[in-house]
Amino acid sequence: MHTTVISLVALLFSTRALGGSDASLYQGCLDTAEAIRSAMLGSIRTSWEQGTAAGAIVEWNDPEYSVFGAFPFVYNGLFPRDTLQLAYSAAVRQTPDGRLSQNINDAQDGAALDGASAGSVVLMGSFTDPSRKSYWENAADAQLNYILNVAPRTKTGAISHRATSRQYWADGVYMGFPFIAYYGAVKNNGTLLQIAYDQCRLYRDALLIDGPTGKLWAHIYDDDTSSWIDKGIWSTGNGWAALGMLRVAVTIQKTPFYSSMTSQVSDLLSWVKEILDGEFRALNSDNLLPDYITGGPNFSDAASSAALASVAYRVATLYPEQFGHNYTDTAEQIRVAVWNGVTNLGTLSPIVNPLAWNETGLLSTEAQGFGLMMLSGWRDWIGI
Ligand SMILES: *[C@@H]1O[C@H](CO)[C@@H](O)[C@H](O)[C@H]1NC(C)=O
Ligand SMILES: *[C@@H]1O[C@H](CO)[C@@H](O)[C@H](O)[C@H]1NC(C)=O
Ligand SMILES: *[C@@H]1O[C@H](CO)[C@@H](O)[C@H](O)[C@H]1NC(C)=O
Ligand SMILES: *[C@@H]1O[C@H](CO)[C@@H](O)[C@H](O)[C@H]1NC(C)=O
Repeated sequence: MHTTVISLVALLFSTRALGGSDASLYQGCLDTAEAIRSAMLGSIRTSWEQGTAAGAIVEWNDPEYSVFGAFPFVYNGLFPRDTLQLAYSAAVRQTPDGRLSQNINDAQDGAALDGASAGSVVLMGSFTDPSRKSYWENAADAQLNYILNVAPRTKTGAISHRATSRQYWADGVYMGFPFIAYYGAVKNNGTLLQIAYDQCRLYRDALLIDGPTGKLWAHIYDDDTSSWIDKGIWSTGNGWAALGMLRVAVTIQKTPFYSSMTSQVSDLLSWVKEILDGEFRALNSDNLLPDYITGGPNFSDAASSAALASVAYRVATLYPEQFGHNYTDTAEQIRVAVWNGVTNLGTLSPIVNPLAWNETGLLSTEAQGFGLMMLSGWRDWIGI
């Protein structure tokens, strides 16, 4: 299979160089995409993995309901079964405090925001699965209540990423804030859209630092002790932040509140651009991003690379006047490099260990999810 993948990569180059059909190029990727997807589904253990996998599935299998779809917040007659299967698991494993996907092993994973990563797909059930409308709604309401009213807050009012202390993690920008915005869009609540924006802003204020390739996000700051837990510029952390802010921006833009929130959307897009610019300037010679740009090892990491390539494809498709060819040129280089590394099990390689950020790993749900997000963004960019 590996040799198949490599020859497919050669084919990708040659068809593109010859101006060949993107549709056949895309068709040629589907078998490996299915392997990436099934490896992802077979690897889920934690709340953030549940939500990240669900986010990847909605983009790949039910794209009309992803925030990148044309009318994602209303029922269109299609039942998003693949997505709701993951949403169901998140809701069935909700703890009494409201956090989704927690009830496994010790029943608590210590994170305040991670459970909310499945919040959007759970709320999606309320308008796409009428037979369980109140089940989905109650689960989403309890999750929203937890992050707005129970989770600890930092001195500036940011929702802590952790449940029993006050910490900023770049990861939280993907885990929590797109759900708050999504809830606002579905329920027509502009206050929630503003909260989602404000949370992104507060996290950026806390985590942005100067790096060798521009301003980027450090990983973890402890607000209780006013000190860094991980001041390294971790590429995956920047990936989470860019993925999250992009989703909040796109969600706001698809609501009637957009006309009074254009400056918020433009801020979010400029913060996404800041991350893409700083990260893409740090690309290793094999066209993958380093695990850390500062403060940790620089081994090539296909996970964060795929995450940020997905962001580049999305912004180039949606905002071509702001994000020109240089973003998709880099995304294309990354896509080929990531594809080249997919193993015969459908796993992305090389990748960072999602539990030990300074080490390489073998299997990572988020890496697999980022791979699918990259393919989904690419599919929309080539217009299939
Ligand atoms: C919007 O959501 C917030 C938070 O749940 C709530 O306090 C507020 O009443 C809602 N506003 C409207 C207009 O529904
Ligand atoms: C792309 O080009 C724009 C405009 O020249 C520039 O601001 C930006 O830094 C470039 N980004 C990358 C990733 O090359
Ligand atoms: C990665 O780090 C090693 C050792 O710190 C260094 O020798 C090497 O040049 C770095 N690679 C890149 C691409 O920066
Ligand atoms: C990664 O960091 C941990 C904790 O700081 C440390 O124990 C471990 O040795 C490090 N691993 C590598 C490969 O540097």
